[in-house]
Amino acid sequence: MSNGRLASDWWRSAVIYQIYPRSFADSNGDGLGDLPGIIGRLPQLRELFVDAIWLSPFYTSPQHDAGYDVADYCDVDPAFGTLADFDALVAESKRHDLRVIIDLVPNHTSNEHEWFKAAVAAGPGSVERSYYLFRDGLGADGNLPPNNWQSVFGGPAWTRLTAPDGTPEQWYLHLFDSSQPDLDWTSEWVREQFREILRFWLRRGVDGFRVDVAHGLAKKPGLPDYTPPPSDETASMTSPGDVPFWAQPAVHEIYRDWHRILEEFGPDRILCAEAWVEPLSKLAYWVRPDEMQQAFNFTFLEASWSAPAIKQAIVDSLAAFESVGAATTWVLSNHDVIRHASRLGMTPPPPQGEGIGPRTEPKPDEALGLRRARADTLLMLALPGSAYLYQGEELGLPEVTELPDSARQDPTFFRNHGKLYGRDGCRVPIPWEADAPAYGFSPSGESWLPQPKEWARLARDRQEADAQSTLRMYRDALGLRREFDLAGGTIEWLDGYPDDVIALRNGAVTVITNAGDAAVALPTGTIVQASEPITASELPPNATVWLAS
Ligand code: NOJ
Repeated sequence: MSNGRLASDWWRSAVIYQIYPRSFADSNGDGLGDLPGIIGRLPQLRELFVDAIWLSPFYTSPQHDAGYDVADYCDVDPAFGTLADFDALVAESKRHDLRVIIDLVPNHTSNEHEWFKAAVAAGPGSVERSYYLFRDGLGADGNLPPNNWQSVFGGPAWTRLTAPDGTPEQWYLHLFDSSQPDLDWTSEWVREQFREILRFWLRRGVDGFRVDVAHGLAKKPGLPDYTPPPSDETASMTSPGDVPFWAQPAVHEIYRDWHRILEEFGPDRILCAEAWVEPLSKLAYWVRPDEMQQAFNFTFLEASWSAPAIKQAIVDSLAAFESVGAATTWVLSNHDVIRHASRLGMTPPPPQGEGIGPRTEPKPDEALGLRRARADTLLMLALPGSAYLYQGEELGLPEVTELPDSARQDPTFFRNHGKLYGRDGCRVPIPWEADAPAYGFSPSGESWLPQPKEWARLARDRQEADAQSTLRMYRDALGLRREFDLAGGTIEWLDGYPDDVIALRNGAVTVITNAGDAAVALPTGTIVQASEPITASELPPNATVWLAS
């Protein structure tokens, strides 16, 4: 089955599957997933009808933020394998007709990166310090941070250095953990380093980059204070208003530059922005024709389970992305948010990044959450554009709420003194085989986060054998999405349904999502896919159906 579009425009319709390497497949039994483990599972991804994989970071890193603290951008962390393993992964992916996107983390490095170590050693006023955002402190002794910015992970966004003789020194900016110092993107030297990093991986055959914190690289000159509204104490990724560290106009020149670098390697390499920017009309700046090809649509992800809210997100997304000639990029889950099978069973879910855990009340309604997740996914996969899937959502995995505090690793948990759980609950290694050690994740049975006992029933092999399983629904829907060319279609909204129902037509397929409490009568048509077992005449609550006429 081919989607029949120009290969160079592949991303406009692609389904891209996010692999979180540490939790996908462990080949050597150390309890941490790795690149050879991924290679071994590629055939199963191919069976799912996805077009590409996106790998979260596998670079050399002390792993203070699960690899988003990079110590060497051009090497593989030994915990994940070697550069030779990476090359083999690219070659094997191509053999399976899968493109490969990798994660680029340009806003900050690890504090163990050579550049940062050299900057610390070189001292105030040195050229090495100009690659980062070092500043003197305020107050008579310089013991106050240079401004009032807060870290996304909680606490101040500045940390003060101490000289080898114990004297307090300059402060450095870190919008995330103190182990993740922000680079200064006004530095031409920094820009040149990243041009070469892009080329390094493009030469190795990658099809593109997912760009981490793509709205954060440019800071407002002078680094003025910013006080978020009371509801937004930490600098959440979408702080409202004119935020001096988010969505500053100067960021766009960087992506125009990168666009030209990708073009050196042909017309089909892509950039995808992880930019938590609202409204969508502003996010569209990231996907103008001379910038990036894609941007995650977090407005759609964050829409509550309400037909008007979801419909509005779809209408606004299509309008915003079309206004710049870009395809919309849909997404419902990733490694930073509560898995949608749990999130949609909570009213309301906690804000992004806070997470849920043993003390959260009320707990998600897992059965309801899964029904809604299946329905929302089926709606998403019927929409024109590209879609990102996060490993394990095809199994309907819930967020793991029972992780003990002692197992947690997310810096959000530590920087908030355990008051926020953070994101570990969506990062638990995924189950492949019900009866194997660690459910097939690791041959030794080790797992860097403990897997829940009840996950045997969610293991991939069990779901293979069950025609009603979430896995089978994903696979069938992804196959039909290609067959009906839904990604390349256009939407016509259908009237005559209650307000809590979304009804649309995309080519030959009528899509109806019932987000209300009562069953709705179905029009005539052949049921080609449904998120629940249904009869031909009505659609129950929390369900989606695709009908062909
Ligand atoms: C966004 C990434 O997705 C997240 O996991 C990470 O913690 C932050 N950026 C900082 O790099």
